[in-house]
Amino acid sequence: MYTSKISGLGYYVPENVVTNDDLSKIMDTNDAWIQERTGIKERRHIKKGDGNSTSIMGVKAAKVALERANLTTDDIDFIIFATLSPDMYFPGGGVRVQEMMNMSTVPALDVRNQCSGFVYAISVADQFIKTGMYKNVLVIGSENHSGGLDMTTRGRGVSVIFGDGAGAAVVTRSEEEGRGILSTHLHSEGAHAKELSLEGPSTEHWVPEIIAENPQDDIPYYPYMNGQFVFKNAVVRFSEVINEGLQANNLTASDINMLIPHQANLRISQFVQKQFRLSDDQVYNNIQKYGNTTAASIPIALTEAWESGKINEGDVVVLAAFGSGFTWGSVIIKW
Ligand code: UT7
Repeated sequence: MYTSKISGLGYYVPENVVTNDDLSKIMDTNDAWIQERTGIKERRHIKKGDGNSTSIMGVKAAKVALERANLTTDDIDFIIFATLSPDMYFPGGGVRVQEMMNMSTVPALDVRNQCSGFVYAISVADQFIKTGMYKNVLVIGSENHSGGLDMTTRGRGVSVIFGDGAGAAVVTRSEEEGRGILSTHLHSEGAHAKELSLEGPSTEHWVPEIIAENPQDDIPYYPYMNGQFVFKNAVVRFSEVINEGLQANNLTASDINMLIPHQANLRISQFVQKQFRLSDDQVYNNIQKYGNTTAASIPIALTEAWESGKINEGDVVVLAAFGSGFTWGSVIIKW
């Protein structure tokens, strides 16, 4: 019987820091509003010409994760790439990473599950390892949001929240029972697909169609979010899916050493923390520095928490995410 464990972690964020004050110079917003509603102080944005893209940031994070796993690209059997902001409409980021890292003809899969993309991707990696099919899977979450946001007052409810960055994990076969990834639980609810979505360009909104109908109509090209509705669903689903994972492993909230929630909004994380009666040391938040980096947020936070010594051998680590789809999920790890 195989189990799987995380053998290496890495992340990369662009150097360019964009503060709330920077945003208030280009749209009607302010530092107090953003911090009070979201906890965000600054985020990173790719700068034109800095050489970054969704895949390139993914490669940078992946190289760190591989090195820490003491593995080379030759050891990787499968690439899973989670993003909502691929370099190209198609093909996905997985094959681009493969090309940039000179990897052989191993399979590459893209996961389109937005904020829960990394949790879904880890679950896929875990299944392939547990069945014995693969030994080492490279899982990447990466996002380039900044170029696609409505950076005017009209889009301020969305654009102040999101940031760019990438995180990566190597998931490796192990034979140590009761250690590593203990469980993954995934859910979705398509009834709310449009509550957090980007409709165009797509087969429902081809570019020529939009231009013919209304040349001024650029709205389908920008993300839409029904913020309060998403918030209300998020707090419920986060709690449900964390409980589901704990119960499946006969654990309780008091067993959690570290909860890494998807960094959607500091208020959501604080709500979940309170519900599970966790101390500040048991929850990792870095949304203050990076904003919401969607599929990248959990691997960036997990890497930072591990780097700073907040995750140790034997710890119960919980990953939990909720976002567009709606999709949500949890991962329970015995480190
Ligand atoms: O990661 C994927 C999952 N996403 C989430 O979980 C996000 C969940 N939702 C949220 O985090 C919050 O709903 C937001 C942070 C997006 C918004 O906070 P809110 O407390 O729900 O604010 P709101 O949308 O109800 O807007 C309140 C007011 C409005 O003005 P009026 O109508 O009261 O005059 C907005 O126009 O705040 C205004 N507003 C802003 N003001 C300054 C909206 N965005 C901004 C802004 N700066 N950036």
